[in-house]
Amino acid sequence: MKKYLVTGCAGFIGTNFVYYMLKKHRDILLVNLDKLTYAGNPANLEGIGNDARHIFVKGDICDPELVSSLFGKYDFDYVINFAAESHVDRSISDPGVFVRTNVNGTFNLLSKAKDAWCDAEKNVWREGKKFLQVSTDEVYGALGKDGFFTETTPLDPHSPYSSSKASADLFVKAFHDTYGMPVNVTRCSNNYGPYQFPEKLIPLMINNARLHRPLPVYGDGMQVRDWLYVDDHCRAIDTVCSQGKPGEVYNVGGHNERTNLFIVKTVIDVMREKLGDGGISENLITHVADRPGHDRRYGIDPTKIGRELGWYPETSFEDGIVRTVDWYLDNTGWMESVTSGAYLRYYEENYGSRRKLTADKGFSE
Ligand code: NAD
Ligand code: TYD
Repeated sequence: MKKYLVTGCAGFIGTNFVYYMLKKHRDILLVNLDKLTYAGNPANLEGIGNDARHIFVKGDICDPELVSSLFGKYDFDYVINFAAESHVDRSISDPGVFVRTNVNGTFNLLSKAKDAWCDAEKNVWREGKKFLQVSTDEVYGALGKDGFFTETTPLDPHSPYSSSKASADLFVKAFHDTYGMPVNVTRCSNNYGPYQFPEKLIPLMINNARLHRPLPVYGDGMQVRDWLYVDDHCRAIDTVCSQGKPGEVYNVGGHNERTNLFIVKTVIDVMREKLGDGGISENLITHVADRPGHDRRYGIDPTKIGRELGWYPETSFEDGIVRTVDWYLDNTGWMESVTSGAYLRYYEENYGSRRKLTADKGFSE
């Protein structure tokens, strides 16, 4: 039986990963270490019931004693590190916590994995171990109109979030290059799907649209992101964990580049049709002051993971967005539970002071 330490799996991608793995593999143990920050929600995991293959531990990846004790108790084969502060806008207003969790936390996990997996005197690594760092395409910075990110594109992060993720990636590389730790890094494009916290573009727009609230588009809305349905990302991580060549980075994406305005208009169309609600219309779109340092375009070249590991995305954007809207509309209780209290304060802080932009002032369509 393979034993995994999976971190941050009460958040968006981690939750989907736990469901994916429990469905896909019979004989596994997933120990899920999550601090339950604002982005972590134990209710996400209720569908697991009392399946003994999943054990939840509330705790911090930065805690050396806790992480050591988990290695002592479970003798993990794999560490898959999802835990992170993940939102660019929050990293602009409060960067320190991004350094703590994303850099120091990753370093702590690497150190404890090394203690458990490597005979320090002989520098011999135990067979069958791997550390997989779940990273992001944002570490590469921004693209112009042409070209794509490959695994050899130089790191050029711009936001405190992407800088902290790039720093973590470099520590993972250092543990491989210096100590010989078996590692992989995956760098995926923007994910969408169930359980995503509504601070991110798609669930935020779904929530605001159903309430007929303004849909805040940063700047001209012509920034481009490369969207991947979350289940495809989960399958990529599972594939890289079991088959990826140690020391390698794998980009994950599916050539699905869309402007933010296209995404918002698609959400409006899908919701209006499903709900038959004429109040959900493009009149809700409100251009607001842009994000400082906003990356203009991301685009992944996924050739390597396809060629070497046979991974290809399976969900088209057209299907994925309908499934996603369906999930949020079927789970309005979930949405309401995560958008009260602290969320309202966050919303006011991030959006309250953003100037509205009009076509004659501030941006051109
Ligand atoms: P998320 O913000 O939804 O979830 C993060 C989880 O980590 C939460 O459950 C939170 O409680 C937990 N966490 C935060 N700090 C912690 C700490 N110190 N100790 C333990 N747990 C802690 O994030 P997500 O969107 O699910 O992203 C997961 C990973 O995937 C991140 O590493 C992110 O950088 C990466 N990624 C995300 C995307 C995307 O589009 N969402 C794309 C590419 C890569
Ligand atoms: P986001 O979901 O925060 O992901 P990331 O910044 O990691 O790509 O944002 C996706 C894009 O949508 C990004 O270009 C910023 C933009 N955006 C808006 O225009 N309005 C919003 O309210 C949000 C949250 C994002």
